[in-house]
Amino acid sequence: METRTQVGIIGAGPAGLVLAHLLRQRGIDCVVLERQSRSYVEARIRAGVLEHGTVDLLTSLGLADRLHRQRMVHHGIELLFAGEAHRIPLTELAGREITIYGQHEVVKDLIAAWDGPLHFSVSDVQLADLTGEPIISYVDVDGVARRLRCDVVAGCDGFHGVSRAAIPAGVLTAHERDYPHAWLGILADAPPSSEELIYAHSSRGFALHSMRSPTVTRMYLQVRPDENLDEWPDDRIWAELRARLARSDAGWQLADGPILERSVAAMRSFVVSPMQHGQLFLAGDAAHIVPPTGAKGLNLAVADVKVLADALTGWYATGDRSGLDAYSETCLRRVWRVQHFSWWMTSMLHPTGDDPFDLALQLSQLRYVTSSRAAATSLAENYVGFPFP
Ligand code: APR
Ligand code: PHB
Repeated sequence: METRTQVGIIGAGPAGLVLAHLLRQRGIDCVVLERQSRSYVEARIRAGVLEHGTVDLLTSLGLADRLHRQRMVHHGIELLFAGEAHRIPLTELAGREITIYGQHEVVKDLIAAWDGPLHFSVSDVQLADLTGEPIISYVDVDGVARRLRCDVVAGCDGFHGVSRAAIPAGVLTAHERDYPHAWLGILADAPPSSEELIYAHSSRGFALHSMRSPTVTRMYLQVRPDENLDEWPDDRIWAELRARLARSDAGWQLADGPILERSVAAMRSFVVSPMQHGQLFLAGDAAHIVPPTGAKGLNLAVADVKVLADALTGWYATGDRSGLDAYSETCLRRVWRVQHFSWWMTSMLHPTGDDPFDLALQLSQLRYVTSSRAAATSLAENYVGFPFP
């Protein structure tokens, strides 16, 4: 069973789905192949901060009606350290706001609005002839073996996908940095205790207070990379959050409630270069991973596929391959800026516990970024995100 399309997209996460809509808007045919079920993909709880570039792009595609109704718009974040809270006025310093709207909500909106070929629950996806006329072979949900011949393959299949692995050994260079911590994340049926996000540096470790709605809070705790979630009953989680979010202003209280979802996520920085090989183009987590401290993962994935969609549009319209040939170089400029910012936020906010020199550097950086307008502006412009390419 062989079919044909212009662009074969592997993965129905933010990268794959935004790319599909961008191509559809430009009259380019594509097929999306996803190994998980629709319900699984829509239920995956991930991050929730959207840069203005992401919101503007989704709006331009007509995919942001629910987002604009339900999102929370924030004009600042709070850095808490040494018991004192300091607000970074993002909009005042960088001219743009941030949007709080769950990644799984974005994915639900993108799937609901998609009326093109999107095959869930596929298996055994394999790529061939990447330097010629690529073929994607796979088994569909009914167990039927199929082949999809395409001009181009977009590898939007995340860090654990097959696309990056399909590139011959020796072609890619991987740049990687691991961190001595992970994040224990919870989603709680509890009203947020702050109107804006709180990034807390404490002697007990980092904590983040975020949210999803006026009744649902999203919070994280720095834990060991090998942390066992079974050792964290609800009471211990809430007690640790209260301890790390405590401040000299005794009036502040952390509201708690039933924990709806919990998980431990490892933290790493990872980039492969180049992000392309032949007619295969990697986008999003398939090409790079950032620590979540900068809230960049989804936004970087969207920026990649905007570059790819623009390059494909030029190629199909005029035969000009310059955009495709420069894809990796164009994406990596933003990728490395975001990698640095995410590493910098992570290094500043996560005590390692055993090095007084590191602790002194962290406190010095936190004092500087909350007392110097220039330093705070640098944080703000990176946090709200730079305009898309
Ligand atoms: N075949 C088909 N689909 C696959 C395969 C495969 N072999 N391997 C993985 N997938 C699917 C996954 O099930 C997932 O739905 O590819 C999709 C990749 O989506 P993400 O992992 O969300 O990656 P991306 O779209 O790049 O979005 C990056 O998502 O993981 C978060 O923190 C990350 O916020 C960032 C964003
Ligand atoms: C989230 O709301 O999930 C979130 C917010 C900010 C981050 C990471 C995650 O830096």
